[in-house]
Amino acid sequence: MSFQAATIAPARTVLSVRNTTVHYGSTLGVHDVSFDIPEHQITALIGPSGCGKSTLIRCFNRLNDLIPGARTQGEIYFYGQNIYAEAMAVDRLRRQIGMVFQKPNPFDHSIYENIAFGARINGYVGNLDQLVERSLYRVGLWDEVKDRLHSRGYDLSGGQQQRLCIARSIAIEPRVLLMDEPCSALDPLATHLIEDLMQELREHYTIIIVTHNMQQAARISDMAAFFNTKTDDRGLRYGYLVEFDTTETIFQEPHEKLTRDYVSGRFG
Ligand SMILES: Nc1ncnc2c1ncn2[C@@H]1O[C@H](COP(=O)(O)OP(=O)(O)O)[C@@H](O)[C@H]1O
Ligand SMILES: [Mg+2]
Repeated sequence: MSFQAATIAPARTVLSVRNTTVHYGSTLGVHDVSFDIPEHQITALIGPSGCGKSTLIRCFNRLNDLIPGARTQGEIYFYGQNIYAEAMAVDRLRRQIGMVFQKPNPFDHSIYENIAFGARINGYVGNLDQLVERSLYRVGLWDEVKDRLHSRGYDLSGGQQQRLCIARSIAIEPRVLLMDEPCSALDPLATHLIEDLMQELREHYTIIIVTHNMQQAARISDMAAFFNTKTDDRGLRYGYLVEFDTTETIFQEPHEKLTRDYVSGRFG
């Protein structure tokens, strides 16, 4: 496995997670998580199924608000502002923190409209043709689709659809890109293209990715947060953060034996 070179200057903190706990109804989803996510780096959330990776990543743009019964405690600061404060403008937060899901979910519209629609409703006043071209170009899709901009987004391959979804997210210039297992529905070549793209995008954005693929986490991330599950007194499983560090430390010399066992494939 190869690792990203360590960043020299200390990075600014984009998201500061403080004692964050999420319940679904009376069931604990993830318990008491605290760590800081640095700017312009790729932070990977790893750990076995059910350890709270999706729950936590959905906190960052308050997507759990849309799940009935979901309740978040603790604080999460986005450039110093608590995103769970009453005064937080959630629409604005979601413009600044874009999200890409496991299953590509283009709008049921043309390739062009997939980019233009979001920009338009977010009040974009520049030239839409240029924005569409620029956004598609940045995800390496322009040459592949420039002759069929008005065909449906759904007609693209899975990997192209995922790059279209990334293009749609970055068209509105967010500061953070959340990706929940963005490659798990893709073939190896499409996965490779998305991984390369992430390396380019991190110059402009902060990327947080959930992945169950250890090689992927080791290849692409700068920082890694390892989560695991515990059982509560009712025998129900919930997630917690075991260890957060540079990817190199997590994979080569983690502090916790549990982390070592997981990254070496002994469980999970
Ligand atoms: N929408 C939901 N409703 C109820 N419980 C949920 C929901 N989403 C996740 N959970 C629970 O929260 C815990 C963490 O799940 P999740 O965040 O999906 O983990 P991961 O993404 O690491 O697999 C699990 O116990 C899961 O069953
Ligand atoms: Mg998940």
